[in-house]
Amino acid sequence: MTKPTAKLEIGGQEEGHEFEVLKGSVGPDVVNITSLYKDTGMFTYDPGFTSTASCESKITYIDGDEGILLHRGYPIEQLAEHGDFLETCYLLLYGELPTKAQKEDFDYRVTHHTMVHEQMNRFFTGFRRDAHPMAVMCGVVGAMSAFYHDSTDISDPHQRMVASLRMIAKMPTIAAMAYKYHVGQPFVYPKNELGYAANFLHMCFAVPCEEYKVNPVLARAMERIFILHADHEQNASTSTVRLAGSSGANPFACIAAGIACLWGPAHGGANEAALNMLDEIGSVDRIPEFIDRAKDKNDPFRLMGFGHRVYKNYDPRAKIMQKTCHEVLSELGIKDDPQLDIAMELERIALTDEYFIEKKLYPNIDFYSGITLKALGFPTTMFTVLFALARTVGWIAQWKEMIEDPKQKIGRPRQLYTGATQRDYVPIAKR
Ligand code: SDX
Repeated sequence: MTKPTAKLEIGGQEEGHEFEVLKGSVGPDVVNITSLYKDTGMFTYDPGFTSTASCESKITYIDGDEGILLHRGYPIEQLAEHGDFLETCYLLLYGELPTKAQKEDFDYRVTHHTMVHEQMNRFFTGFRRDAHPMAVMCGVVGAMSAFYHDSTDISDPHQRMVASLRMIAKMPTIAAMAYKYHVGQPFVYPKNELGYAANFLHMCFAVPCEEYKVNPVLARAMERIFILHADHEQNASTSTVRLAGSSGANPFACIAAGIACLWGPAHGGANEAALNMLDEIGSVDRIPEFIDRAKDKNDPFRLMGFGHRVYKNYDPRAKIMQKTCHEVLSELGIKDDPQLDIAMELERIALTDEYFIEKKLYPNIDFYSGITLKALGFPTTMFTVLFALARTVGWIAQWKEMIEDPKQKIGRPRQLYTGATQRDYVPIAKR
């Protein structure tokens, strides 16, 4: 069977150009334009990469029209329902669900890497108490490069795996330390007998003065929230990690770059922005005013937690997050949460509004996560930290896949230059 190709006719060039079309196992085919510049002397132009596949990957598949999210082929709904977060971590890293023995070994190895170098504690005292926890995370995670030199040689598969385990294991500890520093309480060490999410809740909410018992329903909800945030194809922060890693930078520095990118309100910062937006709306009867603002081209206001570059249907994670939100609120006996009332009514109105239907704007993962995290006891400033904690495994898995790709080379995009053409220097006396 002849290989499919794409033909390009360029005005002013006699010869047409032919490029091979590559087929994936599922999803859109791609036109392989790696030789375009050599063949035509031209670049493609795609700011924001709306039509660009930056790499080949086997980790996560998203169908934005159908609202499908698969990790190594397994639907997010099934992973969130049946497994725990470390099972999803194993799947993302190694490509298969672990056997019982593999899971026990992986859990043991992660659990026994949860402590951080004791000297890292001193980093925190350099920050103002009111520093945003994401600023602390950018600094402290980047500083891991200064502590774990024995796992920064990316050419050594063993060091790559040690660095991956360290990142997954230590992120909850660092995130909890960022929270404790923010609220002025002493750091709490990890406890090996606790599961991943339970350990994190204990490190955040335990105090030296009394025993802290982790609520198993809330720990299960936390595990599920981490699973929902674990990986999401080539999103902005994952692409940042891949680009940083393509230069050979060590994994800790790459993850710190991913954290910085995730912080933006158009990306992972949307969960914090969505809750602040619900507070700004303040009551159900003010919703129409904000819907109108979201539709007004002259108003920069957007509905935080709505819309997505890929999902033009309901984000499958948002449905599970909404269910988890109700579970957490009922477990905590929170009957009528005004923010939840506003969120539910806002969703109902938006999903019936012509503008949102035409632009295919649906709630995304960030819409209900804020209400849930607030009910769990986290301040809004910690919401994106939790997103970064969970996304670390996705960043690491994608970084590892890139490093192990024999075709890997440094990422170096070009541009459409519209600036000044060459001109001579003018002495200041003549300007
Ligand atoms: C995440 O990529 C990922 O996978 C990200 C993520 C992950 O897991 O890694 O899923 C996590 O980042 C989720 C998204 C969180 N961000 C927000 O909730 C912020 C609010 N959403 C928007 O900023 C926006 O929807 C984006 C950034 C999410 C997507 O932006 P795009 O793909 O560039 O789409 P766009 O801005 O071009 O919007 C298309 C149209 C525009 O109108 P027109 O210019 O065509 O007239 O829809 C409008 C936008 O004005 N629009 C919105 C809107 N989102 C898009 N209008 C009102 N409110 C919104 N939220």
